[in-house]
Amino acid sequence: MSPARIAILPPVVADQIAAGEVVERPASALKELVENALDAGATAVDIVVEEGGRSLLRVSDDGCGMSRDDAVLSLARHATSKIRDAADLVGVASFGFRGEALPAICSVSQLLIETAPHDGEGTAVRAAGGAVLDVTEVARRRGTTITVAQLFYNAPARQKFLRGARSEWRAVLDVVGVVALTRRDVRFTLSHDGRQALALPIATSLRERVAALWGPAFADRLLDVEDVRGAIQVSGLAERPADVGTASRRTFLSVNGRPIRDPGLIRAAEAAYRSTLPAGARPSLLLEIVVPSATVDVNVHPAKAEVRFTDRWIVERAVEEAVRRALGTFDASAALGVRRWTMGGSPWATDGAAAADVELLRASPPTPEGLFAPQARSESRPDVSGAWSAEPVPLDDPRATEVPRDVPVPPLLQLRRMYLMFEHDDGVVLIDQHSAHERVLYERFMGTLERGEAPSQRLLFPLTLHLTPAESDAFEANRTMLATLGFQVEGFGGHTLLVHSVPLPHPRFDAERCLRDTLATLAGDRDASAHARHERLAATVACKAAIKAGDELSQGEMRALFLALGDTKLPAHDVHGRSTIVQLSWPELERRFGRQ
Ligand SMILES: Nc1ncnc2c1ncn2[C@@H]1O[C@H](COP(=O)(O)OP(=O)(O)OP(=O)(O)O)[C@@H](O)[C@H]1O
Ligand SMILES: [Mg+2]
Repeated sequence: MSPARIAILPPVVADQIAAGEVVERPASALKELVENALDAGATAVDIVVEEGGRSLLRVSDDGCGMSRDDAVLSLARHATSKIRDAADLVGVASFGFRGEALPAICSVSQLLIETAPHDGEGTAVRAAGGAVLDVTEVARRRGTTITVAQLFYNAPARQKFLRGARSEWRAVLDVVGVVALTRRDVRFTLSHDGRQALALPIATSLRERVAALWGPAFADRLLDVEDVRGAIQVSGLAERPADVGTASRRTFLSVNGRPIRDPGLIRAAEAAYRSTLPAGARPSLLLEIVVPSATVDVNVHPAKAEVRFTDRWIVERAVEEAVRRALGTFDASAALGVRRWTMGGSPWATDGAAAADVELLRASPPTPEGLFAPQARSESRPDVSGAWSAEPVPLDDPRATEVPRDVPVPPLLQLRRMYLMFEHDDGVVLIDQHSAHERVLYERFMGTLERGEAPSQRLLFPLTLHLTPAESDAFEANRTMLATLGFQVEGFGGHTLLVHSVPLPHPRFDAERCLRDTLATLAGDRDASAHARHERLAATVACKAAIKAGDELSQGEMRALFLALGDTKLPAHDVHGRSTIVQLSWPELERRFGRQ
């Protein structure tokens, strides 16, 4: 008879294997201890760490504590007070529910539990390598203190993978940061090698906790996110586009109060920035998502760091929309008053002349009679300029420069053919004319690409373009979208294009150069989603088509730009994330002049 080859593993070995999943490093053991404290209803959690947690982790709480029997039982595998049967797993609200963490940690450390369910009476349980050494009575306040010493002392293979104390300490800081962001109603302290590293009082908002963790300067860079879409609620903080990249990036996500890692959701939030940030820039994002508990499964990851949604797409879209809205309502422009003046149902939108100005830059088919009349600087115009089917209105035409008296657009001054300047109640404001026009055109082109074709200007004499192979590939790849934007183009054999009509964002528009530059920029570019490709094309064409620094603008053009910018969703930033608007407040000026 051959000996049996299969045997059930002794519990200690099984626990050590489980520990491999749950307890990867000191920080992950600490996470379990702190979550247990919170599950016990603690209002204050004090954490002591030595050598990055390698030699000691201690978590003290003022939670419900444990009786003598429970304290001993808590070290047994699958011993939990948090669920009773599988049905409880749906919508489980506690951090823990598996009854695995303590036995797993205990199997690879020297562990001490000191706990009391009431002031004065208490139990101490000493254990090492998964075996209980002794149980004694102690007197202590209600609550629990768990000390984990010499993590992995009996698992040399695991110990080898520990990093230096500094790197383990950084991981500990991250873990405590995440828990502290999740539970602002709890007071935390953290000390490392005898020095206090964090003292976080109870906070009433995420912003307040962020400020306590990472400083008020960081908190000030963040915009409020607050949105409800169907059954999904998204709130939190998102970095102002203009600040992105100037300090290290921080992200935080929670779903139904459970902190998670989810690169897909972060990407969805980043997508909301796409038109305001250079590629590769990574904004700080701290988002809390609430979904119906039946639509999320929390039991899919050994350290509960991931969840599974029944419909991930809907959650991602909700996150993207929420962040997009947060960026949209951000008002550097409130400072400037543009948005205030032009927001929904503005009296001026119905004003004939002003509305015409806005329309010209925004939604309606651009016509050469518009306020962007050509200037004397004809050398900057394309050779085909004479070929526009309609004659542009000359600059001195009263239609182009007349400013109706009753339209409350402030007097605008052009500086260095680059900036528009004006004053308002709060200070002096400068607008970058190219950036601003780029934002206006971008949103208009996006509207066109996502909602339908824009009328274009037919050229009397078609324009011939010779392209490089890469450029003609880019043309083929973007052909339909370019047509939607108003570029009616015919392939003419080889790498030659015949351009029959072009969009006309303003009469100074150099269609040939715009198309060429656009194709050169798009050459070799492959973006996956249709929306992403729309954004890329709209941004590229907007950049090439916008009025340039150096273009002299008439009063009418400046007014039109001013009003159109106020009507955009993100007036404060151009498509590269640069500011379109800079304000110098009156108090700031007074300080500079020593009046204050
Ligand atoms: N700080 C604490 N205060 C009070 N009770 C505690 C504390 N820590 C642990 N316990 C008790 O010990 C039990 C076992 O803890 P353990 O972390 O191993 O499992 P769990 O939290 O139930 O589930 P999970 O393995 O998912 O964390 C808990 O269910 C809880 O009843
Ligand atoms: Mg637990």
